[in-house]
Amino acid sequence: MIEYDSSSIKNLIQKDSKDLDSADELSGFRSKFVIEDPDLIYLDGNSLGRLPIKTSELVKEIVSEQWGDRLIRSWNERWLEDTTRIGDKIGLVVGAKPGEVVIADSTSVCLYKAAVSALLSDQKRSVILTDDQNFPSDIQVLRAAASAVSKDHEVVLIESNKAEDPVDVLLEAIDETVALVSLSQVSYRSGWCWDLSLISQKAHQVGAKVLWDLSHSVGVVPIDLRRDGIDLAVGCTYKYLNGGPGAPAFMYVSENCKELINPIAGWYGSEDPFGFDPDCQPDRDNRRFLTGTPPLISTLLIEPGVDLVIEAGVESIRSKSVALSEKFLFKVRQTLLTLGFEIASPLDEKNRGSHVSLSHSSALAIGQSLINEQSTIPDVRPPDLVRFGFAPLYTTFSEVEECVNRIKTVIEGGGVSRWENSNPLVP
Ligand SMILES: Cc1ncc(COP(=O)(O)O)c(C=O)c1O
Repeated sequence: MIEYDSSSIKNLIQKDSKDLDSADELSGFRSKFVIEDPDLIYLDGNSLGRLPIKTSELVKEIVSEQWGDRLIRSWNERWLEDTTRIGDKIGLVVGAKPGEVVIADSTSVCLYKAAVSALLSDQKRSVILTDDQNFPSDIQVLRAAASAVSKDHEVVLIESNKAEDPVDVLLEAIDETVALVSLSQVSYRSGWCWDLSLISQKAHQVGAKVLWDLSHSVGVVPIDLRRDGIDLAVGCTYKYLNGGPGAPAFMYVSENCKELINPIAGWYGSEDPFGFDPDCQPDRDNRRFLTGTPPLISTLLIEPGVDLVIEAGVESIRSKSVALSEKFLFKVRQTLLTLGFEIASPLDEKNRGSHVSLSHSSALAIGQSLINEQSTIPDVRPPDLVRFGFAPLYTTFSEVEECVNRIKTVIEGGGVSRWENSNPLVP
């Protein structure tokens, strides 16, 4: 077994990838995923995780037995309990208590509910602080939340991308005018990773609340929401949790935030949904943040992926994630920096999530050539980033090394000119 501690990592990554794979304590997890084409290097698990084999079996059972055979009886027989159980399992991954995490809606909708509820709880303050590295949908949602609460509320964007020290710039901007600090823990672009505890402490010192988007960190970066005193968090289940395309999001509301109300109240979040009483009060627990019937099938399909993360342990996953990323960066430095690429992610692993972005003026063409000619799937974020996501449960060191060889082949083999006019819907 290899220990990937940061002092030894620089030596380790020089080792042969095959040796690193044989010594990898997580290597057994790869066989728990559907991998139809072993030559395909899939480095987009930060966008859509691979399909766990257990999920592909479960889908048949859910559809034909739970739905087809048991029909509506399944609600009483299992579904109500199943949804709570899966929320609690995600709670284990993010350091929440049972009942603190609910599964609902999409990340964007959960973010809206969380932001409006926080803003309504203290209307003397009007600033929502976020940064230019945040996911565009998050910025749109935060603006919608601000204007839903009052015309005086505004979203202030910190330019952390250009800052020499983004942490200093952000900490400086958190003052008494701020009602809510809302950031993605790991930026979808550069992979920059904020220190949850540090930022949240500063926000609390000035009386602001924090709302974290954990989409690019859950399941791959250790998170302890209770220890760090986080008020609110949301996140995707279809990335490193492998929950499936469009799987519902999760929402964490600290037990200490009992005063927060769901701005989109509905029957499913009420104390007694099946009492059918329009005057029924919201549930006292976090179920109050639910609105309508959950998308049951996709909610149930989240569980096998979460189970794999729990079985592997996020600390082990993180260690391998750092080692994979460092191996990639090592090969990139050796091979690609003379071919027009620049590293667009933090070099210090403490400031990085589990993807690495390279910038290149022909990013889109390179991405298309890799996908269509080299059996390698990264993704592209316009205008100039090619992103490579490392999902330690199934990404191997050999794949990381071979990916860099294939990028080199694209550049040297004319892939850019063959794909420079392509215009895919999903880059
Ligand atoms: C950081 C982040 N937040 C939010 C979203 C949006 O999630 P959804 O489309 O499920 O609302 C994404 C989607 O990739 C994301 O990467």
